[in-house]
Amino acid sequence: MNNINNNVAMVTGASKGIGAAVSYMLAEENISELILVARASQEFNDLKTELKKNTKISVHCYEVDLLQQNEVNDFIANVISSFKNVDILINNAGLTIPKTIFESSLEELMSTMQVNLYTPFQLIQSLLKSGNKFQHIVNIASTAGIKGRAGWSTYSSSKAALTAFSESLREELLPLGTRVSCISPGRCATSLRRVLAPNEDQSTIMQPEDVANVIKLLLSDVGHFIDSENMVVRL
Ligand SMILES: NC(=O)c1ccc[n+]([C@@H]2O[C@H](COP(=O)([O-])OP(=O)(O)OC[C@H]3O[C@@H](n4cnc5c(N)ncnc54)[C@H](OP(=O)(O)O)[C@@H]3O)[C@@H](O)[C@H]2O)c1
Repeated sequence: MNNINNNVAMVTGASKGIGAAVSYMLAEENISELILVARASQEFNDLKTELKKNTKISVHCYEVDLLQQNEVNDFIANVISSFKNVDILINNAGLTIPKTIFESSLEELMSTMQVNLYTPFQLIQSLLKSGNKFQHIVNIASTAGIKGRAGWSTYSSSKAALTAFSESLREELLPLGTRVSCISPGRCATSLRRVLAPNEDQSTIMQPEDVANVIKLLLSDVGHFIDSENMVVRL
């Protein structure tokens, strides 16, 4: 994966699941600095310890609640002042609150949009305006954004919006030399999936490392030849 060597990469939602698998993958690919974002938790601490123990790269963990606008603002200001450039951005953090339209509240829709759409928008826009030149942005949408499911209206609509946002961005940033990929995973064995399907046997479905390996391919030289406008990744 020659074209990501010595780059600075940022992963949101890095504490567990797909984000943690992507963080391990990037750490093995000679990234120079890794910026990881999640709320404070034991899992996030363990990831940091593990990465620092087993790799030589610089790992910077930021404990940020993406639902708190002031924390997001502070985080972005900190990144802009601390790093020369963020080359690779993986917008992975995700929230789902599965409820029917009778049960959902507007606040839950807004929270879901905040984590799944507004945060990627704000991160990308703020960094671009500060002069950042991204090499590659990967947004993690979902097959739930391609086809809405009963009880998932807030989640599905947020992911459909993220996909459309990615399409626009892909065209806008191409002249600047930035690639924008959007991937839509299907069922993957994580805590978020557990919320959507509490009784599923997660040993039978796609694992976070499988998604990380697809992202590895997209970031590689070969990735240029793959149509990643909205790439479905599923078992
Ligand atoms: N698993 C699937 O079947 C599936 C399928 C399609 C798409 N996806 C997408 O894949 C992405 C990763 O999800 P996952 O399945 O790996 O789930 P996960 O293991 O539950 O991870 C979700 C990540 O998002 C972070 N996050 C959520 N709310 C946050 C907040 N308010 N502030 C900061 N971080 C927050 C979590 O960090 P905390 O430690 O702070 O909670 C965690 O690191 C999501 O965008 C999800 O929608 C998943």
